[in-house]
Amino acid sequence: DRQIAFDSLNEQVIACRKCEDIVCRRQRTVFGVGAINARVVMFGEAPGGEEDRAGEPFVGPAGQLLDKILVASGLKRPEVYIVNALKCRPPNNRTPTDAEIENCRPYFEAQLETIQPEYIVCWGSVAVRAVLGSTDSVGRLRGRFHAYRGAKVLVTYHPAYLLRTPDAKKLTWEDMK
Ligand code: URA
Repeated sequence: DRQIAFDSLNEQVIACRKCEDIVCRRQRTVFGVGAINARVVMFGEAPGGEEDRAGEPFVGPAGQLLDKILVASGLKRPEVYIVNALKCRPPNNRTPTDAEIENCRPYFEAQLETIQPEYIVCWGSVAVRAVLGSTDSVGRLRGRFHAYRGAKVLVTYHPAYLLRTPDAKKLTWEDMK
């Protein structure tokens, strides 16, 4: 039943044309990937160039770092679910607007409702804005659990930020432990 729900939601995403600035430039929509009954959802920002070409989240450089963090945390990519606030790549990888996040909200909320995860990891401030509705910084929100419906929400730095700021990797490692 969950698979049928996801397949029909994905059809809606592929047909979606709500974000004018994005829709004419996207190559693929990026629905999400992983186990439909995952205990842990990894929640990112938006597809980048490689994700836009592949139709899969976190396959570029940030995704390679995410994979390493998963392995170090004893998790395997296929056993979690990976999803972004936006299903489509914003032009030039600009930060998603609030309006774009709201356009995509019905899709990611339906996914979280279907998966019913125990934990959601918000990678970076756009994920925080989408899931928690907060504009507080990652630095202020990390280090304790927050709540989204029935799930415990952990906030940490985005892997793309960690690639630019390797000193912060130890903080994310503390969070993942
Ligand atoms: N960054 C994200 O937040 N999500 C992706 O899918 C890729 C890069």
